[in-house]
Amino acid sequence: MSRAKRKLEHIGYALKTGQYRLSGFEDIMFVHQSLPGIALSEINLTTKIGELSLSSPIFVNAMTGGGGKETEIVNRDFAIAARENGVAMAVGSQMAALKEREQRASYEIVRRVNPDGIIIANLGSEASVAQAREAVDMIRADAIQIHLNVIQELTMPEGDRCFRGALERIKAIAGSLNIPVIVKETGFGMALETVDALASAGVSIIDIGGYGGTNFARIENERRNRVLSIFNEWGITAAASIVEAKNASPRVSVLASGGIQNAGDIAKSIALGASGTGLAGYLLKIYKQDGVDGLIAEISNLQNDLKFIMTALGKRTIQELQEARLVIKGDTYHWLLQRGID
Ligand code: FNR
Repeated sequence: MSRAKRKLEHIGYALKTGQYRLSGFEDIMFVHQSLPGIALSEINLTTKIGELSLSSPIFVNAMTGGGGKETEIVNRDFAIAARENGVAMAVGSQMAALKEREQRASYEIVRRVNPDGIIIANLGSEASVAQAREAVDMIRADAIQIHLNVIQELTMPEGDRCFRGALERIKAIAGSLNIPVIVKETGFGMALETVDALASAGVSIIDIGGYGGTNFARIENERRNRVLSIFNEWGITAAASIVEAKNASPRVSVLASGGIQNAGDIAKSIALGASGTGLAGYLLKIYKQDGVDGLIAEISNLQNDLKFIMTALGKRTIQELQEARLVIKGDTYHWLLQRGID
């Protein structure tokens, strides 16, 4: 099966297998404050992620890889929605465009549509320094994501079986590029130990890509005859993983993603310590239902709703929201207790 066809199948299965709402945010409770003492008009959503200054903590996470006309249309529409809302956007894996030059147009369109926006390149951890440079140049990217997807590869019949050397390649990329390198998971979360190893390799931004939203084990298991069902429930929830990452090296900026579906999830992820929050599957669902106008409206609604939540909490800035009072209950509490993390 061609890469483009497989990636299109992923979109279909991502929508079909849906979002499970098991990202752990249901265990996170804000402590209500009856005297917030601020006005909605004071709220400022600007944030800093490593050296990147963003006007909003919300970003469109990597989705459409594979190249082809359909990728180009989806990339164009997401770039329009990101531009209209002033949010950052990561493209899907550019490996297809590195291997076949004619696929480049489906990525380059993102920069053409949004010449001044923050755009993030994307490759897997098999990438070399030269490939990372080429991916960045292709879209004049402001940062690059390197994704980790061991469980998806193992569940995929035609997937990789050797995972040697990824940390060394990431270290070489982080040491060679003069833009921020973000290492991201793809729906299985990242443990403290992983984040520490990446920090030691010179990575300064981590997207924990937690469990609870799009589930590539389920997606791949739908396509297999013999199901590797253990991987369907494998991973660290987004909520627990943010706390794991925050307890690793303090040099690292943490991004939250995995199952984020509303402004409550976004606010909770920031209050757990994230500096920004990425959405993939949920926005894809909105786009498929309501088109580009619906997507523009939904991202705008998420930003407005986040401002309402910050007003209720009396938190004017993203930095202040990171200090909001929380109670952690249920499975997330027990996970963190057993891991000796707070
Ligand atoms: C993805 N994701 C992804 N990630 C990545 O780094 N490179 C990629 O090419 C893709 N491709 C891709 C395609 C589709 C259809 C989906 C839905 C997702 C993973 C994505 O960025 C994110 O890490 C996970 O989907 C978890 O976040 P959500 O979907 O639960 O918000």
